Amino acid sequence: MGSMRLDRFLGEQGIATRSELKKIIKKGRVKVDGRICTDPGCHVDTETSRVTLDDVPVEYSRYVYLMMNKPGGVLTATTDRYGRTVLDLLTDKYRRMEVFPVGRLDKDTEGLLIITNNGSLAHNLLSPKKRVPKLYEAHLDRYPGELAIDAFKKGVVINSEFTALPAELRFISMEPVIAHVEIYEGKYHQVKRMFKAVGAEVTYLKRLRMGQLELDEKLKPGEYRELTEEEKGLIGTE
Ligand code: URA
Repeated sequence: MGSMRLDRFLGEQGIATRSELKKIIKKGRVKVDGRICTDPGCHVDTETSRVTLDDVPVEYSRYVYLMMNKPGGVLTATTDRYGRTVLDLLTDKYRRMEVFPVGRLDKDTEGLLIITNNGSLAHNLLSPKKRVPKLYEAHLDRYPGELAIDAFKKGVVINSEFTALPAELRFISMEPVIAHVEIYEGKYHQVKRMFKAVGAEVTYLKRLRMGQLELDEKLKPGEYRELTEEEKGLIGTE
């Protein structure tokens, strides 16, 4: 990334707001390469400068990647006047890093949601052309029959304007009826509409995987954590 102002360097790590940071720096709490720096505009190198705050090293990373187990009842949006969004579940540190959710899950859908401030990642994961599979667990009100598997394989006709891309469907339980479905695109209410087209209602939906990145089942709904280096590799962040 190269050279940037000290207040921006610290700001991009979500440490405090820009105006708070200016005060912190002026108080002499920040050192660059071992020397106190009281000028918020002094330039540091993101790769070589050693920056500390209260003598604690501050590592620089341009982007942050979070995995959330999205709970039901929360909107996948950055702001909403009426409802709680997934960003409201994050600490100030991450909100200050100007993160956003990659793609949308419906308000009542749970499961894997990636939240990042890397804009190009969203395109790589969501574009149907990239054919990144998304695996969902769907609970259904009834068994739509074996023929649904074939219909999903061929591409379910939703309406005169939209036929879904071929998808894999398998039933993992009959009582209750639970299916796993893998799709390669993410149109509005896609999974629910696909099942509706074969005669079943989705009563509960959870995303389990995007590409090779699996939801960490240790995360309870509403919990989140940063991706490990290995997980970042799985979704091609670099
Ligand atoms: N398909 C849906 O119908 N809803 C979601 O939230 C995601 C995929």
